[in-house]
Amino acid sequence: MSDVFFAPADRLRGTVAAPPDKSISHRAALLGAMTDEPVRITNFLDAADTRSTLAAVQQLGALAEVRADEVVLRGVGLREAREVTNAIDVGNAGTLMRLLPGWLAGHEGRAWIVDGDESIRRRPVDRIAEPLRQMGGQIEATDGRFPPFRVFGGRLRSIAYELPVASAQVKSCVLLAGLVADGATTVTEPIPSRDHTERMLARAGVTIHRNGRHVTVANCDELELESVCVPGDLSSAAFLITAGLIVPGSRLVVKDVGVNWTRTGFLRILDRMGGIVIGDLESEQIDELPSDEPITDLDVTAGPLVGTVVEADEVPLAIDELPLVALLGCFAEGETVVRGAGELRVKESDRIEAVVDGLRGLGAAIEATSDGFAVRGTGGLRGGTLDARGDHRMAMMGAIAGMASNSGVCVVGMDAATVSYPRFAEDFAGLV
Ligand code: S3P
Repeated sequence: MSDVFFAPADRLRGTVAAPPDKSISHRAALLGAMTDEPVRITNFLDAADTRSTLAAVQQLGALAEVRADEVVLRGVGLREAREVTNAIDVGNAGTLMRLLPGWLAGHEGRAWIVDGDESIRRRPVDRIAEPLRQMGGQIEATDGRFPPFRVFGGRLRSIAYELPVASAQVKSCVLLAGLVADGATTVTEPIPSRDHTERMLARAGVTIHRNGRHVTVANCDELELESVCVPGDLSSAAFLITAGLIVPGSRLVVKDVGVNWTRTGFLRILDRMGGIVIGDLESEQIDELPSDEPITDLDVTAGPLVGTVVEADEVPLAIDELPLVALLGCFAEGETVVRGAGELRVKESDRIEAVVDGLRGLGAAIEATSDGFAVRGTGGLRGGTLDARGDHRMAMMGAIAGMASNSGVCVVGMDAATVSYPRFAEDFAGLV
């Protein structure tokens, strides 16, 4: 495991391209595998998580040709995933673990085993097992809830499913299963979550609509997806943006960031905190379903911040960036509170515990609650050591904290960043 020291940075200056979006790369590879004709994917993320997805779809019979400037997927179609006896290894990728069974569940008479790393074995799959069971598929999980698990395909029925938790992964799983069900499938979300699956299905010619919190997908014979251009990942860009806001004297531009409104909750939170981030954002599209993924350049300038309160309805739209809201809160005047974010406890680590313990060890005045945290801004952070707990986003949060701290931060397990942002160190080296 790699321990890396991040010294206080003078100021960050320059222009950097956001790394390709992880969520959209996973979906492009999966939908590519579900399409009969070749699908060309440009700007596909080359990271540990998305390599797991390419390996999985290849195991299922798709061909993935990784070229210098694109990935070409030659899929097997909606109903012809190859049955294999070896477990499909999802590695650390929760999105792959929850979306893939949606496709596999429609293969009547076939079965697969899905497994992953130590962290994935602590992440619940009962949330996808229940809707798939209602549709006619089956998941047999360890202790009823965890990987490794078996997926048994069946003849699927369409359902109307109300999600008990706002989760784009569960929503996507049901929508993918709905493609081969016997009618139209509707998923209702308690609060909107990222809609990349819906947009990509619309692009693939599927009849799919959103009406407020309801998404309805029609069954179909085949997907017609010729190409996908993956935008920059706002969740990775969030590390650059946060550093640009809290390292004094910084001014940087992050290029080609995906700004689908279901991903930009973090930017709206920053706006309330007084963070200066300028770009052309997509407005809310609650009764519309665009089929494109808008991008923009984000121009970030360091400056004073004030605390804010993040309520439950904002949480799914900023879920992966909430640790950074805690870090920003350390530098803001007043209190920053996040509520209704109990889902953070079942991410790659328990991110409430990891954030609170991690930042407190660097000098923060932060308290955990059952479903979030409260931080009192003290104008900065002392520094120290932060254990990433094998979680990529914790590792990168620790690194940024170090750059903005008084005495620097040693991140234990920095190699975890390769899960989503392998070029993290190079990108920052170009800005100092
Ligand atoms: C993701 C959805 C979110 C997010 C994860 C990626 C996706 O998870 O935290 O990093 O690609 O659909 P949940 O749907 O479990 O909230």
